[in-house]
Amino acid sequence: MKSPLVFVIAAMVTCIVAQDPYYVWPDVFNDEERDAFYYGQFPDDFKWSTATSSYQIEGAWDVEDKGESVWDTFAHEGTHVANGDTGDVACDSYNLYATDVQLIKNMGLSYYRFSLSWPRILPNGRPDSASADGLRYYNALINELLDNDINPQVTLYHWDLPQALEDEGGFLSDDFPQWFNDYATYCFEQFGDRVKFWITFNEPWIIAVLGYGDGVFAPGLNGIGDKVYNVSHNLILGHAMAYRTYDSTYRASQEGLIGITLNSDNFYPFNPKVQLDVEGTERIRQFQVGWFAHAIFKNGDYPEVMKTRVAEKSEQQGYFKSRLPEFTEEEKLFIVGTSDFFGLNTYTSSAIIGTRIEAPRPASWETDLNVIPYKDRTWPTSGSSWLRPVPWGIRNLLNWVSEEYGSDTAIYITENGVSTEDVNDLNDESRTKYYMAYINEVLKAYKIDAVNVKGYVAWTLMDNFEWSDGFSERFGLHYVDFTDPDRPRTPKESTKTYSTIIQENGFFPPEPSSGNSGIANTMLVVISLMFAVNFAN
Ligand code: BGC
Repeated sequence: MKSPLVFVIAAMVTCIVAQDPYYVWPDVFNDEERDAFYYGQFPDDFKWSTATSSYQIEGAWDVEDKGESVWDTFAHEGTHVANGDTGDVACDSYNLYATDVQLIKNMGLSYYRFSLSWPRILPNGRPDSASADGLRYYNALINELLDNDINPQVTLYHWDLPQALEDEGGFLSDDFPQWFNDYATYCFEQFGDRVKFWITFNEPWIIAVLGYGDGVFAPGLNGIGDKVYNVSHNLILGHAMAYRTYDSTYRASQEGLIGITLNSDNFYPFNPKVQLDVEGTERIRQFQVGWFAHAIFKNGDYPEVMKTRVAEKSEQQGYFKSRLPEFTEEEKLFIVGTSDFFGLNTYTSSAIIGTRIEAPRPASWETDLNVIPYKDRTWPTSGSSWLRPVPWGIRNLLNWVSEEYGSDTAIYITENGVSTEDVNDLNDESRTKYYMAYINEVLKAYKIDAVNVKGYVAWTLMDNFEWSDGFSERFGLHYVDFTDPDRPRTPKESTKTYSTIIQENGFFPPEPSSGNSGIANTMLVVISLMFAVNFAN
């Protein structure tokens, strides 16, 4: 007779095997509650997309009457971009846009996020210079997308300001909001019959801090701590003006959505028991995301912590008033509520160490903030030093945005993706893992945490000009051969994974005979054999 103990042990083993959780990065992220893979679907109207931006892909920098952008100027200076690369030709999408549309279609996407080049449309930045060729190009692209059942998601500004406007002060000019509003109005007028999803600005933080603060991006100004705040001030006003114009003049007939896209790591305290780290984490969230979102989504004004901190530091540094400008009461009312959705770009996480350095130092956004962001060395690496995949971070960040700006706020992940260590990697397993794990965490945020996430945009359709890293870093779902004048595109392995996720609108549980459950099945066969042997005895 068989001992009951054998049954109990066998049942326990079966139980353990059946629960065997699947982890995308089993060696790094394997907390059963937090990291175990989750199966389920996104809502039926979830928007799957991929993105690019004009300067990064179009090339044709001086075709016809196109005006120069600040990135044309900056890259041509030769010293700011790795290997002296420029976007002069890039992916040549100006000529190959129809090929791009087929790549998007082949992946099964029904949305495509791209940006308009302001100086291609308005060479001197103003509507009096409107280019027939710019209009022709974007009409052709939009129509090609629609003919292939792909809806355009259009970013009005992804960093390529007309040089002519930069020469008049760019974002630092008080005229900037009006310039932007005139450009946006022209675009609504020309393309709004077909474009139903508008993003005013991509990542204002980068525009202000990297463009006008650190100067590592165009226009390359090394602004002390006041320029960055003046840039953001004019940017927020320009955003609000364009939103109000759309709302009052175009929304009724065009029936689209318009919002802004902000970027953030998932920030969390290095040591949650250390008050400095907890406060530092909240501070960086407010200085990075809140800088723009607080006014737009909450009350028309900057977060309290920014107002007090920049004012205190400014005083210590001998400024006669705070370096952070103030909105008038009228402006506050004008700004609040000017985004139909929260566009979120995120790639990685940072643990935050709060510091006490309060002494006056050269003014900058960084020294106003006083934190040290830290990346754990155990996290997987990528082709970019700033980017280490931390899948659970996107879920945390989504939850924070939802709590901070209201659970009704519609959130779109407008960028998420990763670069590979080998730029020629066609079998890009690390990217496949990244998309699996990150999108799975977005699914958990939607299903388990009830975050109102409406869409996901993979960065990026194809390898392209990665700003100051030129072509030395590759984020593409498709490989582009930049040594070939025809710029051929080749799908990487990750396109298959992304297509499957889109097709399943999430993740179906694995077939019983494959992958992780294959192991489970093998174990079950072994257990059954144990039973059989026992019974035979
Ligand atoms: C930008 C993209 C860029 C990507 C990867 C985002 O911040 O919007 O233009 O290529 O990050 O660095």
